[in-house]
Amino acid sequence: MRRGLLIFALINILVLFFLVRSVSTLLSLLLEDAAADAIQSTELPSLNSSLIEHPQLIPKIIHQTYKNGSIPEHWRNPQQSCIDLHPDYEYILWTDEKSRAFIAAQYPWFLKTFDNYAYPIQRADAIRYFVLAYYGGTYIDLDDGCNRRLDPLLAYPAWLRRTMPTGISNDVMGSVPQHPFFLRVIKVLQQYDHQWGLPYITIMYSTGPLFLSVLWKEYIQDSPSDMSRIRILMPEEYQKYTWSFFTHHTGNSWHGKDARLIFWMGQHWQFLTFCGVSLAAFVGLFLFWVYSRIMHRRTEHLYPYTTVPSPRLTDYP
Ligand SMILES: *[C@@H]1O[C@H](CO)[C@@H](O)[C@H](O)[C@H]1NC(C)=O
Ligand SMILES: *[C@@H]1O[C@H](CO)[C@@H](O)[C@H](O)[C@H]1NC(C)=O
Repeated sequence: MRRGLLIFALINILVLFFLVRSVSTLLSLLLEDAAADAIQSTELPSLNSSLIEHPQLIPKIIHQTYKNGSIPEHWRNPQQSCIDLHPDYEYILWTDEKSRAFIAAQYPWFLKTFDNYAYPIQRADAIRYFVLAYYGGTYIDLDDGCNRRLDPLLAYPAWLRRTMPTGISNDVMGSVPQHPFFLRVIKVLQQYDHQWGLPYITIMYSTGPLFLSVLWKEYIQDSPSDMSRIRILMPEEYQKYTWSFFTHHTGNSWHGKDARLIFWMGQHWQFLTFCGVSLAAFVGLFLFWVYSRIMHRRTEHLYPYTTVPSPRLTDYP
């Protein structure tokens, strides 16, 4: 009996350990404010200056994605604003056809996963990580227009955009070719290719911003060298002010929704933590109940006659 209890306790501790471990990155992500890596506005040159104070690291390439070459009307202006501001940059539009050909040629081991994604947005997410890993450059979603030249952002080995109050997005990002972060991202994409019931969660966590945020958090926890540090573009520099880098345009952007879910999770993190702990307690109690039932049965089986039936009145007429 004593030994059984000990084993039961050990199993519970193990289960709890794995539960906590598997959500710990998510929990710590909610608390990560990225302050240490934020790009400070004082680091950036004034609006119209094309001067880069530090050497340019990221190549002058702009990547965008759409299913084919016919960009819908409401995204033509933002697209053109980026092209017009950067005549000296190479511009690449990754259509479905071009993306698939690129994966087939450069990353054939990924082609099966790429083709088998259930949702087109997963391919649109994945291709941006591969082209950044391969060519480097700046990826920009079609619903983000350019408000000023990207030059100052080319001085970092890689940068991602912060979403408030937690996580990062994958709608604009920049990187040198072969950056260790993006190499890691493309390497683990297959591992994260799971169905999670809801399409929304599946997309978020297999290729989307939640997937990227978790990897980013893991990456900074492993404290890479300064050489490959990822800098974070904060909301003010993203699109809040006249001197911010991007402008937002309406369109049915997927990532607006993502941001809202992450936002909701961030606002309710105490509640979510409470739910997690309650769930763990419930699972623990349930296991204990199962355990005591089994022990009870076993006792009955070992000593079947120890419970003396109580005498019934009818036995003594
Ligand atoms: C920057 O340039 C734009 C157009 O070239 C001009 O309208 C704007 O006034 C300039 N801003 C500053 C701060 O010089
Ligand atoms: C691009 O896709 C849209 C929507 O599916 C379609 O209407 C259009 O004809 C396509 N354009 C080309 C050039 O294939």
